[in-house]
Amino acid sequence: MSLVSWAHGVAARKLADSLPRRWAHVEGVARQARRLQFVPEVDAELVEAAALLHDIGYAPDLAVLGFHPVDGARYLASIGTSPRLVNLVAHHSAACHDAEPLDLAYLLDDYEDERTPERDALWWADMTTGPDGETLTFIERMTEVRSRYGAEHAVSKAIDLSWSVRLGAVERTEARLAAAQVKNAD
Ligand SMILES: [Fe+2]
Repeated sequence: MSLVSWAHGVAARKLADSLPRRWAHVEGVARQARRLQFVPEVDAELVEAAALLHDIGYAPDLAVLGFHPVDGARYLASIGTSPRLVNLVAHHSAACHDAEPLDLAYLLDDYEDERTPERDALWWADMTTGPDGETLTFIERMTEVRSRYGAEHAVSKAIDLSWSVRLGAVERTEARLAAAQVKNAD
């Protein structure tokens, strides 16, 4: 079985029935990730598998801490997932900044943020996909999240604090896609 089929099965079992809207988002992120297959320096299979697994920590039976990147990473480690995939899930989309206002940043100490093209691509795919799986620009996506939670919520504050690191991952990935002549989705 391919890595992507395995990840699809694991994520679908945990999210498809219990959280169908979250599952639609996850499938949209995986669709974005597939666009990386034309970028030579990126392991697109790894990015797609990480995209499928990145929000698994939202599954009701896995939400132990209530901090989904680490809930997901812990579950994936417990079923023998490769450390690289576990680390990508733990740190996806500026998770360390999301953890700070919640005083949970220490939970990420067990995981490496690998700062590679694959890590950037996962962040980009997540931050350019809306809650129903639709493709959005980074600005549209961040605006959508901030308005859903409200400006005073910890999630919105974390976005403000981590804006430059998020944008960096998006810009580097979009530059790689442009260099490989991958067209925009729309
Ligand atoms: Fe996500």
